[in-house]
Amino acid sequence: MLENLEPAKLELEGKTYLLPTVRGSEGEKAININSLRKDTSYVTLDNGFQNTGACISDITFIDGDKGILRYRGIPIEQLVEKSNFSETAYLIVYGKLPDNDEYHKFADTLNSHSMIHEDMLNFFHGLPNSAHPMGILSSMVNSLSVFYPEVYDPERENEAFDVAVARVIAKIRTIAAFSYKKSIGEPFVYPKHRYKYCANFLHMMFASPVNDYKLDHVLIKALNQLLILHADHEQNCSTSTVRLVGSSQVNLYASICAGICALWGPLHGGANQKVIEMLGYIKDQGISVQDYLQMVKDKKNSIRLMGFGHRVYKNYDPRAKIIKKTCREVLDHLNIKDPLLDLAMEMEEAALNDDYFIERKLYPNVDFYSGIIYKAMGIPLDMFTVMFAIGRLPGWIAQWKEMRDFKPVKIGRPRQIYTGPNLTDFTPMQERK
Ligand code: SDX
Repeated sequence: MLENLEPAKLELEGKTYLLPTVRGSEGEKAININSLRKDTSYVTLDNGFQNTGACISDITFIDGDKGILRYRGIPIEQLVEKSNFSETAYLIVYGKLPDNDEYHKFADTLNSHSMIHEDMLNFFHGLPNSAHPMGILSSMVNSLSVFYPEVYDPERENEAFDVAVARVIAKIRTIAAFSYKKSIGEPFVYPKHRYKYCANFLHMMFASPVNDYKLDHVLIKALNQLLILHADHEQNCSTSTVRLVGSSQVNLYASICAGICALWGPLHGGANQKVIEMLGYIKDQGISVQDYLQMVKDKKNSIRLMGFGHRVYKNYDPRAKIIKKTCREVLDHLNIKDPLLDLAMEMEEAALNDDYFIERKLYPNVDFYSGIIYKAMGIPLDMFTVMFAIGRLPGWIAQWKEMRDFKPVKIGRPRQIYTGPNLTDFTPMQERK
């Protein structure tokens, strides 16, 4: 729901301009500057889009001050307790919880698309064993548009949207597991139709021709929770990338490939891997928590407390709260005493009581504890961000579809303020100093 409010008045060069203002269904307000440049010749400047709303959206609501996160209005706390990842993916993509028939049809369609084209295996064989799984994932997801060129496109209405959705959600999991098997030199393990989404992933990751891999229902539940918690997060860096790239009307898979690449960065989805590397470094070097926090606070170092801070949450990231609890449950279930968990909790305690972090409202975010669970599950460090991408995929799809359905579809094309040289003539080589 979008409500029109009293217009904002802008005084510029002796003139008064009225700018429309709007309020969303949770009370967020915005000044609509669609006509600003035409009316005033001015544009706005906003480094990092910290104050700029790129779109209106019905998908996810975040209240950063209160630590609220809801998908299509449903709090994540209820979804992690009562739902599973496939059902939550359906909710995010289609805008409602599925009824029994819809759910089973969706689950069956996911299963029917869980294999990848055998020719795609040649990509795996052509990549070095040392290839980072995020590099593999982005390449393989982009190649889906080569293997399935008739991919859904709202302008061409060729393939059903449902098929494109199920194909990429099902196959991203298979590609991820295959990239792991490739990295350890083991044969690929194919999905089994009788397993649900997360069970199938763990099966493809850890079963092998020589072991009698048994599915662990505590790990399946924990993985469902982790993927649910990563499923969407409104206009973060990678989702904004998917929207921007998709606005050129390129296909869904190429847009998602761009999102995967954006997520890879250490300031974004790559942080879960960096957190474990940071904790491991502190432990191996015998650095005390207080000494490390001093290193972070010393601006001469360019050290960040990875897994801490957030552009939107100025309170505890509600996802981190749930993941921290799940972390303890999984480690207790597996009877693992991970010193990195103890160190992480000591670090959190110290930071939350340190003025530097308090003044800047820096709290643990989704990445601070998630890597400890992945590590306990046996998922390798360089696959942690792949796990984030698998979780975020329904959000990317839903946001891409919402952008393409919002008419008229405008290609994303920000403006700038030029600060370079004024008119300059070309200098022939012999005259250059
Ligand atoms: C994700 O946007 C999303 O929704 C993302 C995400 C999602 O679900 O899609 O939630 C997933 O990306 C979570 C964030 C994962 N990244 C990290 O954990 C990396 C460490 N955190 C940061 O670098 C930082 O907090 C960001 C990138 C998350 C947010 O950066 P902002 O909003 O641009 O804030 P900033 O860099 O301008 O920092 C403001 C101040 C600065 O200090 P001053 O210049 O005011 O003195 O806070 C400091 C920063 O130096 N600061 C930190 C810090 N984060 C911010 N100082 C130490 N450690 C940190 N982690």
